[in-house]
Amino acid sequence: MVDGKPFLILGGELHNSSSSSVAYMKTAWPRMSAMHMNTVLLPVAWETIEPEEGKLDFTVVDGLLEDARANNLKLVVLWFGAWKNTFSSYTPGWVKTNLTRFPRVQTSDGRDTERLSPFSSAVREADARAFAKLMHHLREADGQRHTVLMVQVENEVGVLPQSRDHSEVANAAFAAEVPQTLMSFVEKHRTTLNPEFRAAWEEAGAKTRGTWQEVFGKASLTDDLFMAWQYATYIERIAAAGKAEYALPMYANAALIRPNYEPGQYNSGGPLPHSMDVWRAGAPSIDFLSPDIYFNEFAYWAGVYTRPGNPLFIPEAQGGATGAANVLYAVGRDAAIGFSAFGVDEQGNTPLDLVGITNPGEPIDSGALGSMYLTLSRLESLLLKGQETGNLSAALLEGDAQRAARTSVGAYIANVARAGSPAASGGRVGALFLRTGPDEFLVVGSGDAMVTFTADTPGPPIVGIESIDEEYFENGAWTPRRRLNGDENSQGQALRLHASDVAEGRIYRVRLYRYK
Ligand code: DGJ
Repeated sequence: MVDGKPFLILGGELHNSSSSSVAYMKTAWPRMSAMHMNTVLLPVAWETIEPEEGKLDFTVVDGLLEDARANNLKLVVLWFGAWKNTFSSYTPGWVKTNLTRFPRVQTSDGRDTERLSPFSSAVREADARAFAKLMHHLREADGQRHTVLMVQVENEVGVLPQSRDHSEVANAAFAAEVPQTLMSFVEKHRTTLNPEFRAAWEEAGAKTRGTWQEVFGKASLTDDLFMAWQYATYIERIAAAGKAEYALPMYANAALIRPNYEPGQYNSGGPLPHSMDVWRAGAPSIDFLSPDIYFNEFAYWAGVYTRPGNPLFIPEAQGGATGAANVLYAVGRDAAIGFSAFGVDEQGNTPLDLVGITNPGEPIDSGALGSMYLTLSRLESLLLKGQETGNLSAALLEGDAQRAARTSVGAYIANVARAGSPAASGGRVGALFLRTGPDEFLVVGSGDAMVTFTADTPGPPIVGIESIDEEYFENGAWTPRRRLNGDENSQGQALRLHASDVAEGRIYRVRLYRYK
């Protein structure tokens, strides 16, 4: 809710160094507006606002606020404090260079690493002080204007390449009892715990007290849960200090797990599905946990982060045609409060794989997501209402899956099958269905597909298509153009979605009926 009204974040995240310079951003803002985004996710680094201890400098923050407003864009601030992608590269020099005062995560053979230790109260308190100052300043500078909507606290935390910190204080904590706060949470929420987490606890005897290994077992997952508690309680201190100054919604984002990766191969301790309960117990001031989804299994990862009490927000994802398909699914199927592609200030010359986006074949056409954002922004109030009333759904054809994707829409099931050449839409096709009447839907597609409808409720079993109209947004309203029939709807048997729908801003109004 922004200023009392529901708001759908159609966002993009800047590259890691862009927002360190107001001058550099001058060339980027128009690109964001051209992509029809309404929100930019941008880092604010500890080193930028507190280059000298106790001396705060908000010149860059104020410049970014001013230029975002000038471009009619909202912001989500990413606090790059003690950690960014597990490392501590955004801390000021006076922190980075003082390993005695600000200790590091240590390896099992006692070596310091490039990561500040979450067990250090000195690190935590200095980080909390700086963050609280930032939130205080944002309240002063933006408390009425609400350019800044939300804040992400730290970025993709966790430990690599080992599964936990082996510093002395960490070893002592690992050998100690699991904090009672966590155990009471586990007992109280036993029936809704993440299955993997619950299994680890129950297989170790569902104890209500004991050391970490006694309670969760000897597997490396326990190291991950131990670190998750430490990062969560650390970030709780930061978030609470910030909210005491300015209570904006706050979240933490996660780097996800490649198949069969062990803790330490992935960010051990990050807010991952199997440790979401630990994070909820340890960081109640964090409103939700978010996945950075670069992997192709988008529907799976979006689904596991859509939990009661954890609304889906995707701060980082692939852009282009892939993003255009995925945003339909996130908003339509999982009622996401927002979606954001990474690297949107790309000047069209940096190969995607440089930022780790694993689809080298995909053309750099951020246009596709931009066009989809334009269509979604024109449907925003209907979509938000649809999310609220459950009159919204979506299906996603992922990768080269040949099987049709299905989704239930009111009394019907929509079956979305491949059509045309997968190459045209990179193999991924999203289709969103907004129910506007008992037998009427608006359909938004991101690629070539054939949609048929079957009955999903008792009653006359056969579903017929009464009519299909293509619609375009003209003079502020969705306006019908052609009535699609004959060859254009398989002689009345199916809705044909086209890859060109996205760029041309075309949607469809479908009316169905049923008979025996
Ligand atoms: C995820 C991080 O959160 C981003 O800051 C950036 O490093 C991307 N990975 C790059 O792929």
